[in-house]
Amino acid sequence: MRRFTIVVFCISIALVSYAQVRRHAVDGNAGITQTVPQFPGSLLAGLTPAQTSSFNAGRVQFLRAWNNIDGLGPVFNERACTDCHNAPAAGGGSARNVTRFATRVGGVFDPLTSLGGSLLQDHAITGGPGAQHTFLPEHVPAQATIVVQRRSTPLFGLGLVDATPDSVFVTLAALQAARGDGVAGRVNMTDNLRAGTKTVGRFGWKAQVPTLVQFSGDALLNEVGITSPDFPSENCPQGNCAELVFSPVSAMNDDGSAVAMITNYMMLLAAPNRGPSTPDSIAGEQIFESIGCSECHVSTLTTGSNAIASLDRKTYHPYSDFLLHDMGTLGDGLEMASSTGAEMRTEPLWGLRFVTRYLHDGRATTLEDAITAHDGQAAAAKSRYTALAASERAQLIAFLRSL
Ligand code: HEC
Ligand code: HEC
Repeated sequence: MRRFTIVVFCISIALVSYAQVRRHAVDGNAGITQTVPQFPGSLLAGLTPAQTSSFNAGRVQFLRAWNNIDGLGPVFNERACTDCHNAPAAGGGSARNVTRFATRVGGVFDPLTSLGGSLLQDHAITGGPGAQHTFLPEHVPAQATIVVQRRSTPLFGLGLVDATPDSVFVTLAALQAARGDGVAGRVNMTDNLRAGTKTVGRFGWKAQVPTLVQFSGDALLNEVGITSPDFPSENCPQGNCAELVFSPVSAMNDDGSAVAMITNYMMLLAAPNRGPSTPDSIAGEQIFESIGCSECHVSTLTTGSNAIASLDRKTYHPYSDFLLHDMGTLGDGLEMASSTGAEMRTEPLWGLRFVTRYLHDGRATTLEDAITAHDGQAAAAKSRYTALAASERAQLIAFLRSL
């Protein structure tokens, strides 16, 4: 009898936990945020069943490996978004770098589009169904004088960033300028294809892309080789557009539906939750603020009004202002939209505990190396960091690891 009671008790616990996990999966853990720890790659809390289905449908497209018949390539970097955005779960970043090349002629930046730049596609379709021609992966041409690596960044929480009005970033830049301490960032005004005008860029290492929908189409074309209504022309292999006559699929590869689904998925992807706080990490956050890291790595932003309740006037903690800052020697030399070679977007620090390589090219393997590579507008904060006592530096690192 006693054993029977224990078994029933255990089964009930299992059922209750299952119900909570189910509920989490089905409706975005509405009302039970505290009981089920949120895992990276999960959806925003409080979504409706319809929004949850659209997240799930978009996730399938994000995981989809495109093939020759779908229109893959002819030159491409990987077949699926998750080939590069997978750590520690779909929607994350990875240590996968891509290569960009360019040059400067008489001081004027040239992305070498005529030779396949600035983004190099390191794969090409060969054989396989529909291929009538062997395409070659691109290489860095001799004309390139700027060759840089770019690391794949995590996408968790970017729907909140997308849902933040341009005015928030414009105001932040004005406040930084008014401080007059040499740490003033600026917005990267960039072509918004859907709006038909320039709006505030916020995505990418140079804040060169204004919206998630534009990034979806851009990445589908430039990383995977899938054309869609906003990005209708295939990448010319190594700049040779004549070679496109051999492309196995000449029609538009995606009618816009994959772009829309992938956008929904990214829009509804939750921000990383915080790791556990310790006395050191709490002390470290105060140091982070007092030595000026938070001037660029801004802790708190708020979205505007939004038709999706979970994105409507929500406060979030990206530890970024999404503005361009002159980073001196840390700049990668590329110009994208209005950015100069030295300017980089403040990298958000949320979810940093899941990241293993740091900075735009992944050159830093420790947080200490990432911090000491800061230069330009961040040189003063960097010096204040190196002047800290070893115990204070350890507290600051403990804080970064709690993000
Ligand atoms: C070959 C690797 C690769 C593939 C495949 C790839 N990405 Fe990325 N992704 C990157 C890199 C590298 C960056 C940084 C871009 C830059 O240079 O600014 C990035 C950045 C992004 C960003 C901006 C993140 C931020 O912090 O602002 C979004 C959004 C994004 N990717 C979406 C996608 C989507 C959607 C797909 C699939 C259609 C995709 N990516 C496929 C490598 C990849
Ligand atoms: C002037 C603005 C600015 C200040 C001040 C600043 N940062 Fe940064 N931070 C950036 C930019 C921009 C990047 C991206 C640089 C790159 O990779 O090219 C970055 C990147 C980082 C990264 C790497 C993140 C990643 O995922 O690769 C860490 C860690 C970091 N900062 C910590 C700090 C700390 C700690 C301080 C204070 C000592 C600080 N930053 C001060 C602008 C700033």
